[in-house]
Amino acid sequence: MENYKPVLFSETVLTELMIPAYANFGGKIHGGTLLSLMDKVAYVCAAKHAGNYCVTASIDTVNFLAPVEVGELVSLMASINYVGNTSVVVGIRVISENVKTNAVKHTNTCYFTMVAKDDNNQPVQVPGLILENREQVRRFIEAKSRIDIRRQYRKDLNDVNIPEKDEQCRLLLVGERCQIVENEFSSTS
Ligand SMILES: CC(C)(COP(=O)(O)OP(=O)(O)OC[C@H]1O[C@@H](n2cnc3c(N)ncnc32)[C@H](O)[C@@H]1OP(=O)(O)O)[C@@H](O)C(=O)NCCC(=O)NCCS
Repeated sequence: MENYKPVLFSETVLTELMIPAYANFGGKIHGGTLLSLMDKVAYVCAAKHAGNYCVTASIDTVNFLAPVEVGELVSLMASINYVGNTSVVVGIRVISENVKTNAVKHTNTCYFTMVAKDDNNQPVQVPGLILENREQVRRFIEAKSRIDIRRQYRKDLNDVNIPEKDEQCRLLLVGERCQIVENEFSSTS
């Protein structure tokens, strides 16, 4: 019989204190530090659902909405939003809390696609997902839409043609902040 697991089974929260070593030259927390924490929490959530080792296949739009300060407590809340055949989409909401004032800000939300691997390093099927409320259904449908949009985006990108003639390239770039210098560009066409 096919295996299904509820979203709750793998829901994961990771909380970490932002220490001075995580800061950039401007005194704020490095975006890379937050990305690393997101990757960690995505892994835990995905591996728990999959019951297998998982790898990160892609990350969907990371927008940093507000800076994170040294001394704040960052919490990353991860849950399975969608399951494919061998992949899962983990949605992560990141918040940052000032421990003195208890002010909480939403710093970003993003989506990691993780692929489960077997002992031979081959993608392996993940359990299905049991959706128990409207929120979980909404997240599943939205994740499915993002996959369809991304597929179309890749197709559109493949259809982009670079004109053969120099003059057509120049026309295409009118108004852009670039300069074409006369060397290899004109000698190839
Ligand atoms: C991601 C990876 C497992 C895909 O392997 P693959 O042989 O292309 O496998 P498949 O084409 O069968 O795809 C497997 C699943 O991954 C998904 N997938 C593959 N590439 C993807 C991408 N760029 N974005 C989102 N999903 C992707 C496929 O849709 C498929 O999902 P499904 O089974 O749920 O339908 C493989 O490319 C890999 O191991 N990459 C390196 C991962 C890694 O090291 N990550 C850490 C980065 S430092």
